[in-house]
Formats: sequence, structure tokens, C-alpha cells
Amino acid sequence: MKLFEPLDINGMIIPNRVLVPAMVTRLSGEDGMVNDDIIDRYVRYAEGEVGLIVVEAMAIHGAKAGPLLRISDDRFIPGHAKLTKRIHDTSDSKVVPQIIHFMKIARSGWRQTLDMLSEQEIEKIIEEFGDAAVRAREAGYDGAELHAAHAYTLSSSLSALNGRRDDYTGRTLEGRLRMVGRVVKNVRKKVGNDFPIGIRMLADEYLREGYTVKEAKLIALRMAQLGLDYISLSVGGKFEDAVHTPGEILHGYSGYSGERCMPGDNHPDMLHVHLSEEIKSFINSKGYDTPIVTAGKISKPENAKLVIEEGKADIVGIARGLLADSDWVVKVRNGEEDRIVHCTYCNVCKELDGAHKEVHCFLWPKHARQAPADQPDSDAPIWGADKGGLTVEQADGAATLKWSKAESEVSGYDIYRADDNGDVEIIEAVKGTRFVDRTILAGMPYRYYVRAYNKVGQASVPSENVMIEPALPDYAEAVA
Ligand SMILES: Cc1cc2nc3c(=O)[nH]c(=O)nc-3n(C[C@H](O)[C@H](O)[C@H](O)COP(=O)(O)O)c2cc1C
Repeated sequence: MKLFEPLDINGMIIPNRVLVPAMVTRLSGEDGMVNDDIIDRYVRYAEGEVGLIVVEAMAIHGAKAGPLLRISDDRFIPGHAKLTKRIHDTSDSKVVPQIIHFMKIARSGWRQTLDMLSEQEIEKIIEEFGDAAVRAREAGYDGAELHAAHAYTLSSSLSALNGRRDDYTGRTLEGRLRMVGRVVKNVRKKVGNDFPIGIRMLADEYLREGYTVKEAKLIALRMAQLGLDYISLSVGGKFEDAVHTPGEILHGYSGYSGERCMPGDNHPDMLHVHLSEEIKSFINSKGYDTPIVTAGKISKPENAKLVIEEGKADIVGIARGLLADSDWVVKVRNGEEDRIVHCTYCNVCKELDGAHKEVHCFLWPKHARQAPADQPDSDAPIWGADKGGLTVEQADGAATLKWSKAESEVSGYDIYRADDNGDVEIIEAVKGTRFVDRTILAGMPYRYYVRAYNKVGQASVPSENVMIEPALPDYAEAVA
């Protein structure tokens, strides 16, 4: 299966087409140093044999930013070297750091914008990217990823809302591309051509008057022309529409563009794949085969396989899905899909990141700081004599499900639902023994069952099924 075939990215052979995109962990202190918790988080992905691990955004400069990794000085190299060694000693997973420059923000809501940067400051940023890439190479990373997405400096330069009026002018696409172009040239000068350099950019800003896939195609083409070794696509995550809470630092993921970037359970699966498909086919038609990474709710195995088989992208990015279950690759490859701890996109991780708190997953056992180590032989929970005793009651447009506790170690319960006699989907995971479904449409049959799972995803047999078919409301009957 193509998903599990290796891919050569400028000499970096990734063992499969699954990438864990950068995800800030907030496990580092304000000192920006790699510590044991950070190492444990990334070694988990290596144990899970993820093809390419992108280590969370790390600053190339010294600006204040709360708990955030840094690669802004040689004194950070030994920590990163320890991290890369541990990953390489664990499996064939490859690892790159995401290197980032961001501008200043204040609790008052004020933020520095691109047009406030002097030419000397831009020259400095270009140098800092090059120096950080050199440090990445010295630390034993397999390559580096430039962060040109979301609310940060390079993304602000590419943005249709870039307010500069000099050589980096936002009035032309060429002006917007100039800073990234110069960064790439300098990085290449400093690390050479044989060190893989990827970039993360936006396929759509999801901002009023922001750029969309129409220009993203052209930006991606230029990235390919610059010789970048992969293009990882994200969307949104901008400051322009962020919601400011007085007294707090502006969070780039608090507006609608932020919601698109880390879409919650209200959004459909694979909602951004059409963007990567369009961008990939465009650059391919221009003669470039730069690998394209897509991301955004692609953690169902059948979806990940489809994206690769149908050539909608070259690599699948699974962020929250791999946080929930870092052994996803091994389980899917071994045909053990039934043992996956399925991300429900509840976004507890996103909220923790926004609050600068240690990022963990709601689905992990209480107080766990990492995804639990896999135990394929552990006992799955079992139902008592009542086989789960699942009941459903409907009232006021909602269906309330109740069941009995399963026996042996239980981490949570997945709620499965089939709408209108269609496919079964997990609609929620809960820790308790009650769930209220407020998303039913009367007039259709719904079938539910529940499975209890342990901390490594071993699930009980399904409970008995329960069905409801709420009657159409009076006003709808008249027109039905
Ligand atoms: C807690 C958290 C932190 C994130 N930090 C970063 C980051 O440092 N850099 C980045 O490019 N994207 C970051 N993202 C966005 C993810 O890389 C990814 O694009 C997004 O979550 C959508 O993919 P998914 O649906 O597979 O989770 C973060 C997402 C989450 C949930």
C-alpha cells in the first residue's frame, strides 16, 4: 500500500507517507531548552514509526515568548542533538525542526506588523533563518522546515494583507515572495543543497481579502522553483481575525481562521484535501514533483490511504490524531485499526496551547503526560452480564444514551452512530457512562452502540445496539 511505501526527500528517506506536523507541546520551559519531557514526546512518535516527525515551532531569535523551544544560539544545540539521537536510535523515523520567526505582541492587544520592520531587521531575520538551519544540521536533524504559515513573520510577508511598500511590498505577489525567497537562498548558502529544506505555507489564509488557493498555487510553484524539498500545506491561523481577551496575549488561533487551522468536531473530515489536490496538480503540470503534505482531520485510516492512493497529496499530515495515538502507523500497517485511539477533535489540546499550558490529549488516561506506551497484549475492557445495558431516551430534540461501566481497566467510551441506515462513525469519546446527542435530525433512524476502550485503544465488543427514529415535528409534516 502506497501509504507505507518509503519516499526519498532529497536523500532523506522517510519510511512511510505519514508526517506528524509541528505541534507546540508547551513542555519546554521559558529557557527554550530541550528537556526530557520534550524528548519523550517525540520518541513516542518514533516508537510509532511515523515517517517524518516535525518538531514543534522553535524560535530562531531571542524574543520573549513564554514556554517555547529555541534554536537561536549554539548553546541550544546539545539538547537538540540528544533529541535527534534518541529518535534515530528508536526507529527509521526521520526528524526535522520547524524553525520560526515571529514578531512582537503585547498583552494590551498591540502587535508588531510586517510594515514596522526596518530593512536591517529583515536582513537580520534572513541571517537568523540561515544560522538556525546550520544549527539544525549540527544537531543531527535530517533536514529543517521553514515556518511560513499562520500568524508569523514569513507568512505575514506572503499574505495578501502584507502592508509593506518597499521591495517587500504587499502590492505585488512578487514583493510578497521576496522575503521567503531570500531566506531560502541564504539557508541554502549556509547548509548546502544536500540538506533537505521544507516549508510550511498556507493553502488559504481564510481571511477577508486574504489569499486563497488561486494564489497559493503560484506561491507553491515559486517554492518548488526555489528548490524546496517539500511543501507542507496548512490554512488560516492568523492574527488579523484573532479575538483579543483583555490582559491576555493575542492568540493566533482564536478567530475563524484559527478554527479552520485546527478544525474541531463541527467540521467534516479531510476538509482541506481539495486544496492540496489543486496545488499538487498545478505544480506537477509545471514540471515539479516537490512532495506536497496535506493536513486537517485525516486520521481515519481509509481516508489517509485514499489521499495517497488517489494522488491528492504525497504525504499525509496527521497532527491531533497522532497526539491521541502515536502508534497509529504501526496499528494501521498491521491491520489493527480496531485498536486505534480515535481523535474526536475536541480541541482540548488546542485550548491548552492557547493558554500556554502543557499540551496533552483528553483521550489519554488522567494525568498522563505522554501517549501511553502500546501494550498489544493488554486486556480489552469487558461488559458485565447486561452487555453494556445501553439505553436511549429522546426528548426535546436530543437523544440521551446511558450504559453501565465496563470491567477491567477502562480509559473511556467511544460512541458509535449510524445515521439513516448508513455507515457507522464514532461521534464522540467520553470518560463517563452518559452522553447526550444534540445533533439528530428528526425523521431519520439512528442506531447507536458504545465500546469501552483501555489506555492503548483495546476496545470491548460493541454493546447492544439501540435505535431511535424521532418523528418529524408538526411544522415539517405539513410539507413532507
Ligand atoms: C496543540 C497544537 C499545536 C500546534 N502547533 C503548531 C506549530 O507549532 N506549527 C504549525 O505549523 N502548526 C501547528 N499546529 C497545527 C497542526 O500542525 C495541524 O496543521 C492542525 O492541527 C491540523 O491537522 P490535524 O487535523 O491533523 O490536527 C498545532 C496544532 C495543535 C492542535
